Amino acid sequence: MSLLEPSQLERLRAARSVVALTGAGISAESGVPTFRDAQTGLWAKYSPEELATPEAFLERPRFVWDWYVWRRQLTSAAQPNPGHLALVELAKIFPSFTLVTQNVDGLHTRAGSTDVVELHGSIELTLCFDERTPVSENDYVDDGKTPPRCPRCGGLLRPGVVWFNESLPPAALARAERAAQSCDVLLSIGTSSLVHPAAGLPLLAKRSGALLIEINPSSTPLTRHADAVLAGPAGQILPELLRLLSSPKSA
Ligand code: APR
Repeated sequence: MSLLEPSQLERLRAARSVVALTGAGISAESGVPTFRDAQTGLWAKYSPEELATPEAFLERPRFVWDWYVWRRQLTSAAQPNPGHLALVELAKIFPSFTLVTQNVDGLHTRAGSTDVVELHGSIELTLCFDERTPVSENDYVDDGKTPPRCPRCGGLLRPGVVWFNESLPPAALARAERAAQSCDVLLSIGTSSLVHPAAGLPLLAKRSGALLIEINPSSTPLTRHADAVLAGPAGQILPELLRLLSSPKSA
């Protein structure tokens, strides 16, 4: 069974510029839980909106910090999966390929992707809440009980990720928007397409004339706008897409 209609495959093969936008779903097969699929374990009863806002953090800093300590442990133990690896290879096929991610887990870079546009920051980074400056993990003490503090100003320390009600890094967002506006094909991979402004990028690409392909086992608000929907796990579909593009005759 072919993944794409012949005319769509032709458009993909001929593309000069491709954007891949990824979300938590691409890391699901690496064992990193997504945000909106059923949560497991300790944090099962909390929604991301309850844990990932500056307000929630200021109200219960240690509690929110601990959620990120847990996620950081998960992500640092996780390994890139065939979906991440296929994107490294796909990037080599097209004259221009921009990988934009909402993920903070660093798995694209660990897989070998270069120049990843990280819209939501990185869980590896720790920032001073007040000064917004990075603090090295050797420079602060975490006693496991009280919220860790900035060694310079005594402010609360927080993870270097973008929370709800916060702005995205302007340079990363501008780059993602420029790439979406000028691409021939946009692949939306493993995202619920619920969180803006990232969720607006595929529609921006489509309005600018790009072919829009969604890869997700479940439908999302983007599905009805997509030209092609590849319903399945990214770790399976992306390697199939790569094989299709690497073999000149098959469709
Ligand atoms: N392959 C592809 N997609 C998958 C897979 C898989 N193996 N498993 C799950 N998915 C899909 C789900 O169907 C869902 O649509 O991944 C999506 C995950 O959605 P979310 O948990 O909402 O993650 P995401 O879209 O990345 O969230 C966006 O919201 O919580 C904030 O800042 C956080 O970056 C995050 C943003």
